[in-house]
Amino acid sequence: MSLQIALTKGRLEESAVKMLGSCGYGTEKLQNKGRALVFQDTKKDIRYFLAKANDVITYVEHGVADIGIVGKDTLLEGGHDYYELLDLGIGKCRFILAGLPDHDPLKKVGHLRIGTKYPNVTRTYFRNKGLDPEIIKIDGSVELGPLLNLCDAIVDITETGTTLKENGLIIYDEVCQISARVIVNKASFKLKRDEVMQVIEDLKKAGKTC
Ligand code: PRP
Repeated sequence: MSLQIALTKGRLEESAVKMLGSCGYGTEKLQNKGRALVFQDTKKDIRYFLAKANDVITYVEHGVADIGIVGKDTLLEGGHDYYELLDLGIGKCRFILAGLPDHDPLKKVGHLRIGTKYPNVTRTYFRNKGLDPEIIKIDGSVELGPLLNLCDAIVDITETGTTLKENGLIIYDEVCQISARVIVNKASFKLKRDEVMQVIEDLKKAGKTC
């Protein structure tokens, strides 16, 4: 049976495609893709498509994709109707609490404002500390928030630390570690179990050799 695999565009894309390639999958078209979004595997009965992280979850939950490759950050923020079967060990980064030097948000007395792309992760993190800050949703370049005094601090992901450093922000706490995961549609897991498990096993092996 044919498989549909949703891949996250951007940051994760290159390493995920490389990993599939090292499994012997025919991903050449994904490597020279231009602006195309849908690709047929040249060796296997698999179709890949590229989507934004949140949409990868949506496609998997609705059964349009049997399998999705997406960051744990996006999974933690929303969506629950899928099986998470594998940590690929790629796209490793951290959720952190950061702000301007000498402005530790955890020591602030009074009203606290946190800017983030991840309101649910942020709410849970602060709730576990017994705090209930105002959460301001920002869609990108979250580091701008404290610089322009939109917020006191941010909860965001960091990989190399460069964006924080170049904008004069420091880390006050680590929320958690994150990496890319393989998620599977619940019905596909039953109806295409052999095909799905073959992909999982191949990716597991590739992870060990990478
Ligand atoms: C993410 C994150 C940081 C940056 C961190 O943003 O929100 O801004 O990467 O990476 P670094 O630690 O390696 O510098 P992304 O590049 O995904 O885009 P965005 O700011 O538009 O959300």
